[in-house]
Amino acid sequence: MARKSLDRHTIKETILADIDNETFSIELIAQAFLITKKTVHQILDELLADTIIKREKKGRYALVERTTLFTYENKGLDEHTVYMTDVKPLLSELSQNAHRTFAYIFTEMFNNAIDHSQSDRIEVTVLQNACRVTCSIRDNGIGIFENIRQKLNLADKKYAILELAKGKLTTDKTKHSGEGIFFASKAGDAFYIFSDDLTFASVDTEKSYLFSNEKNTAGTEVVFSVKKDSKIVLREVMQRYSEDPELINFNKTIVPVSLLGYGEKDAFFVSRSQAKRLSTRFEKFENVVLDFDGVAEIGQAFADELFRVFQNEHPRLQLTYINCVPDVANMIGRIKR
Ligand SMILES: Nc1ncnc2c1ncn2[C@@H]1O[C@H](COP(=O)(O)OP(=O)(O)OP(=O)(O)O)[C@@H](O)[C@H]1O
Ligand SMILES: [Mg+2]
Repeated sequence: MARKSLDRHTIKETILADIDNETFSIELIAQAFLITKKTVHQILDELLADTIIKREKKGRYALVERTTLFTYENKGLDEHTVYMTDVKPLLSELSQNAHRTFAYIFTEMFNNAIDHSQSDRIEVTVLQNACRVTCSIRDNGIGIFENIRQKLNLADKKYAILELAKGKLTTDKTKHSGEGIFFASKAGDAFYIFSDDLTFASVDTEKSYLFSNEKNTAGTEVVFSVKKDSKIVLREVMQRYSEDPELINFNKTIVPVSLLGYGEKDAFFVSRSQAKRLSTRFEKFENVVLDFDGVAEIGQAFADELFRVFQNEHPRLQLTYINCVPDVANMIGRIKR
């Protein structure tokens, strides 16, 4: 009897996860658990009756979302108090690990809105369903990419996304170290920053991406979600970016080279100036891994600037590369020889 109820619980959890991932199919659940379709329908009816799921168009199902909204005046705010008073009481269904991750991302991103946005208001929306908690932190300030563009003197605000992906980017060195977005984006099960016409995204992977933002967001909106039983462990993420995992001192980074194309398809990296833009601030790290995933080809001058000129100027910095197609690997090999 105990086994039967355990199975029903597992089936329910699987159904909910599949609905969340938009992969749900009655046939597949029936096959996977060796049960009849009638039994799957019975379980769906229970989930509908408990308002955990709802029926959508064309016989599809969706998870029921509960929404809570808070609005703050950005004056004398403290992210920890906001978290403890308003947000934490909503999170009782998160596992201990998921809770820690959520607290880290929330306080880091709320602190960013307080310290960097120049906004007079901050809005927080918490959306909960049976599988995850999603949170939006929105300000009506200068906009993160424009802020970075201005303070780092970049030619285009798109370039801010590559800088954020490298890590250790801060526009306020006296009070900050530039770790918040780097680690938050890798610790969440999904992480997005929307501002103006740009999106910085990191979903189900530690890689960062640049997309356009059709919503054209005024100010900055950070949206992240943490699964209730999230398997991502923040400490382990931080260890991956430290040469000595015990120290957790963030002296290593992995740079998605494709971001240098700023969202353009088949971007081609040929020039010394592109290589210089890529290697800006690399000297803040002891170990830089260049991830060439999605890069089809690089030119001789680009490779020479990075792997000979830059490397000679920074002999102690360990510069390595991963995910190269043969053309890219051959060009780097030629320079290094
Ligand atoms: N809401 C925002 N509005 C405007 N600019 C922002 C906002 N959030 C972040 N930024 C910019 O992005 C930079 C990087 O943010 P991040 O949280 O990674 O580092 P930090 O806040 O500077 O340092 P740390 O998080 O380690 O204290 C900030 O220095 C700031 O320039
Ligand atoms: Mg920060």
